[in-house]
Amino acid sequence: MIRALVLVAAACVALLVLLVVLPAARSDPYTRSTLQLSGSEERGEQLFLINCAGCHGIAAQGLVGPSLHGVDSRKNNRQLIQQVVSGRTPPMPRFQPEPQAMADLLAYLHTLT
Ligand code: HEC
Repeated sequence: MIRALVLVAAACVALLVLLVVLPAARSDPYTRSTLQLSGSEERGEQLFLINCAGCHGIAAQGLVGPSLHGVDSRKNNRQLIQQVVSGRTPPMPRFQPEPQAMADLLAYLHTLT
């Protein structure tokens, strides 16, 4: 009986993730508006130097945080945005750039081969 309840509860959680959490992640309005904008690499680099270079190094070569060269082969745009705005991996803080600034940062991250 208890085992059946646990199974039902697990199934409910799985359903919740499938129906609520995943679609919300896909259609989050901040991510959507960021991805519709085209970013400027130069602005992105300036933003990077001000906000990120202290940890990732002025050439994104890695310091406290990892090197970001080739990061776009490890993470897609949505994951990169999540990395910047979520604050899920301390000590990296949670940033809240305007969508245009986030798009600029993405453009810069894509130049780091
Ligand atoms: C206080 C230090 C700090 C600052 C400031 C910081 N980061 Fe980070 N960052 C980290 C650390 C530490 C990690 C590794 C997190 C982990 O995965 O455990 C990381 C990871 C990342 C990753 C993922 C790297 C990978 O290989 O998957 C990206 C992308 C990133 N940071 C971008 C940025 C950007 C863009 C900014 C500026 C807006 C920034 N970071 C500012 C410390 C920092």
